[in-house]
Amino acid sequence: LISVNLMAQQTGVNYDEKEVPNYKLPELLVSKNGRKIKNAKRWEKIRRPELLKLFEQEVYGKIPVDIEIDDVIIHEAAGEAFNGTAIRRQVELVFRKDDLALSANLLIYLPKDSDNVPVFVGLNFNGNHTVSDDPDIRLADSWVRDNPSLGIVHNQVTEQSRGVASDRWPIEEILEAGYGIATIYCGDIDPDRDNFQDGIHPFSYQLGQFRPGYDEWGTISAWAWGLTKAMDYLSTDADVDSSRVIVFGHSRLGKAALWAAALDQRFAMCISNNSGCMGAALSRRQFGETVGSITKAFPHWFCENLNKYASREENLPVDQHMLLALVAPRPLYVTSATEDLWADPKGEFLSAIEAGAVYQLYGTEGLPVNEMPAPDSPVAGSVGYHIRTGKHDITSYDWKQFIDFANQQFTPEQ
Ligand code: GCU
Repeated sequence: LISVNLMAQQTGVNYDEKEVPNYKLPELLVSKNGRKIKNAKRWEKIRRPELLKLFEQEVYGKIPVDIEIDDVIIHEAAGEAFNGTAIRRQVELVFRKDDLALSANLLIYLPKDSDNVPVFVGLNFNGNHTVSDDPDIRLADSWVRDNPSLGIVHNQVTEQSRGVASDRWPIEEILEAGYGIATIYCGDIDPDRDNFQDGIHPFSYQLGQFRPGYDEWGTISAWAWGLTKAMDYLSTDADVDSSRVIVFGHSRLGKAALWAAALDQRFAMCISNNSGCMGAALSRRQFGETVGSITKAFPHWFCENLNKYASREENLPVDQHMLLALVAPRPLYVTSATEDLWADPKGEFLSAIEAGAVYQLYGTEGLPVNEMPAPDSPVAGSVGYHIRTGKHDITSYDWKQFIDFANQQFTPEQ
C-alpha cells in the first residue's frame, strides 16, 4: 500500500478508492430521445446501434471503408505440430488497393483429427513466432518495436525472439481441451506507433489525405478490423466451427478484442484480459489510467475526438459498461489482476456488473454476484469474471478459466 501511495504522489495517478469522484453513468437502457429500452428487440433496433455509433464517433473511430481479403496464400496447410498431436496452418491474408498491399499472417493450431473445432482468436504483441518455441512458425517481417534483449533491432525480429511469449500462450493445454487457437501479429495490421502512414490506415485515404479524420479509425479500430478479417478467413476454413469463434485479447489487445466483438456479431464469445482504461474499466472512476493519460501516451490508439474528454470524463456520452453490453447476449469473460491497479480492477468488475442489464433483456443473468469476488475465485453467469493474484499479465491460470467458461457456455444444457 505504501508503495502504491508513493507512486500516486509521484505521478498524480489516483489509486485511492476514497478519491474516486462521485459519478453518474450514462443510462444504458434509455435511448437518445428518452425512450426506455425494455426488451431485446428495442435494444437491437434502437439502443445498440446508437451506442455503436457513439463508440465509433467519439472513442475508437469508425472504419471508413470496406476492405476485403484479396488473396489467401496458404504457406502451410497442415504442418505436424506438438509431437503429432496437432496441426499448424499458416495463412497469409493479402489486402490490396491501388499500389498499396498489406499482409496479415494468420497462425492456426488445431487438434489433430478433429473437425468443427471451436477456436480462440486473438492478436499477439511481437510476432506469431513469439507465441511458441515451435521452430516452424514463420518469422514476422513487419515493423516491430525495438527490444534488444529479445534480439529485435532495426524494427525486425530475429530467431532470438522465438517463443518469448510462450508463457502467455499455453497452446498445448488449449488444444488438449479440444479448442483451436489462431493469432495474427498486431503490427501486421497496424504497427503500434503514432504513425498513420503505415499499416492499414492509408487504404482509407482520399488523394492528399495523410491521417484519418477526427472520427475515423485509430489503431485499436484497425486491430479490431484485423480480427474481423481473421473471422472472414476462419469462416471459410472447413476444419473450424465458425459459430464458435472466441475473440480474446490481453491489455491493449483486450481493448481491441472487445471492440471487435461489439462490431462483429459473428464472434460467439469475447474475453477481455486486463484490458483496463478504454477496455473494460469505467472511465468515470478515473482510477489508475485515465482518458487524459491514455490519449497522451498512446494518441494513435483512438480517434481524435476522444481527446475532448481528457479530464472531462463526465462529458463522455458513453462509458465502458456500454462497450461490454454491446457483446450481449454472447458470453463475455472479464479478468483483472490484484496488482494491476493501473487497469482499475474494481472499475472492470463494476462495468461487467452494469452490462448485465442487457443480458437480462435476453433472459440470462450476466454476472451472478454483486460484490467483487475474492482473488482467484471465478464467478460466471453469461458474464464471467475473476481477479487473479498477481500482476498485469495473461497466465495459464487465466487460460484455464477461459476454457472452463467456454466449455460451460458451449455445452447445450441437458
Ligand atoms: C499500457 C497502457 C494500457 C495498456 C497496456 C498494455 O500500460 O497504459 O492502457 O493496456 O500498456 O497494453 O499492456
